[in-house]
Amino acid sequence: MEHIPTPPVAIHPRITGGRRQPLPLPLKRALLAAITVAAALSILCILSFTDTLSFLGFRPRDVDKRDGNRRYLYWGSRVDCPGKHCGSCAGLGHQESSLRCALEEALFLDRVLVMPAKMCLNSVHNTKGFLQSSNATSQQRWETGSCAMESLYDIDLISRTVPVILDNPRSWYEIISRSTKLGEDGLVVHVQGVSSAELKQNSNYSGALLINRTASPLTWFMECKDRTKRSSVMLPYIFLPTMATRKLRDAANKMKEILGDYDAIHVRRGDLLKNRKDRFGVERSLHPHLDRDTRPEFIKKRIAKWIRPGRTLFIASNERTPGFFSSLSDKYRLAYSSNFSSILNPVIENNYQLFMVERLIMQGARTFVKTMKEFDKDLALCDDPKKNTKDWQEPVYTDD
Ligand SMILES: *[C@@H]1O[C@H](CO)[C@@H](O)[C@H](O)[C@H]1NC(C)=O
Ligand SMILES: *[C@@H]1O[C@H](CO)[C@@H](O)[C@H](O)[C@H]1NC(C)=O
Ligand SMILES: *[C@@H]1O[C@H](CO)[C@@H](O)[C@H](O)[C@H]1NC(C)=O
Ligand SMILES: *[C@@H]1O[C@H](CO)[C@@H](O)[C@H](O)[C@H]1NC(C)=O
Repeated sequence: MEHIPTPPVAIHPRITGGRRQPLPLPLKRALLAAITVAAALSILCILSFTDTLSFLGFRPRDVDKRDGNRRYLYWGSRVDCPGKHCGSCAGLGHQESSLRCALEEALFLDRVLVMPAKMCLNSVHNTKGFLQSSNATSQQRWETGSCAMESLYDIDLISRTVPVILDNPRSWYEIISRSTKLGEDGLVVHVQGVSSAELKQNSNYSGALLINRTASPLTWFMECKDRTKRSSVMLPYIFLPTMATRKLRDAANKMKEILGDYDAIHVRRGDLLKNRKDRFGVERSLHPHLDRDTRPEFIKKRIAKWIRPGRTLFIASNERTPGFFSSLSDKYRLAYSSNFSSILNPVIENNYQLFMVERLIMQGARTFVKTMKEFDKDLALCDDPKKNTKDWQEPVYTDD
């Protein structure tokens, strides 16, 4: 970042007859200006990074890059992925919540997080393409199983806030060989169900080179149940979505540029519309108004007070029916990811990547309406509570 201005050729001693002459005044000024500009630029670089972080809600820290001082935290080789084939792993949102929990602990313990090198792709969230294309070839491209963590996140960017390394064989070998060089005793501790505070305060743990915490295998984020109590180490929800890998951020930026000034809605249907029949054969749903509220005629009524006619409306949805939302086009200029296949096809290999791009688009919208409310200030299509896992009710389709 530091630019040392190369001296102009004219001041070379040979050219000035071997005598070092004082710099002529204009030249001095030019040099001074160059140095000032360089300094200003480096300050700007630092500032814009600091800005990003303060926008994210926390202060950047000085990350100690000296290898000798590094201590590690390991949570396991897979995020929320119990089985061999990841068939039962959760969607991206759940896995991110878990990953964030691990990152928060690393931040709290001032350790490097040894992050799984792969992210599990849930087949439910990944069998159908978001790109609304009936093309079998693009369908085949959706990978199943897992994908490289680096294909989703910018590891270096994450490391500026929480230092991380991937648990690929090379980085593991490095850590293991170091621990054997230093001698076995107390360098790797295996813990389970020990609180973060204990790991930090108890010298039996805090001195270890590597803490191997066996996190709750189905849901790492359970380790953060006490999230609200550890206010000093909270990473904002937005942290991981913002850390998308460069090619995904670039794709999103290109799309945003084309969209111009736009609004966005996220319409989750498929996965959330799970109904089941009770013992009397009556349909029941955990979100009784969701099917109704995510249909275009209801969306139109609902968003009218937030988004005025004529606006460009970006729709991110897992609805597969072709043209499902097209009746909204009498009020809005509609855009989907499928409008940008020339930008997306070369970079998108699975639905998680696509969703990460769509999330960046939604983040950049002037007005954004979610499917269901998560935070008080959210605008949402449906008033049903998002976190309902027990109360099955009859779906409502009427207007009240
Ligand atoms: C469908 O596949 C063909 C070739 O396999 C490709 O040329 C075309 O662009 C694809 N269409 C879409 C919408 O992806
Ligand atoms: C550390 O471990 C030793 C041996 O297992 C034990 O005696 C000691 O009480 C532990 N220290 C703390 C602070 O828990
Ligand atoms: C971490 O600890 C678990 C047991 O709690 C063990 O099965 C696993 O092999 C350990 N991993 C490493 C890398 O030491
Ligand atoms: C996006 O594609 C749909 C058809 O799938 C079309 O109706 C709409 O006008 C396109 N939007 C833009 C902004 O090009």
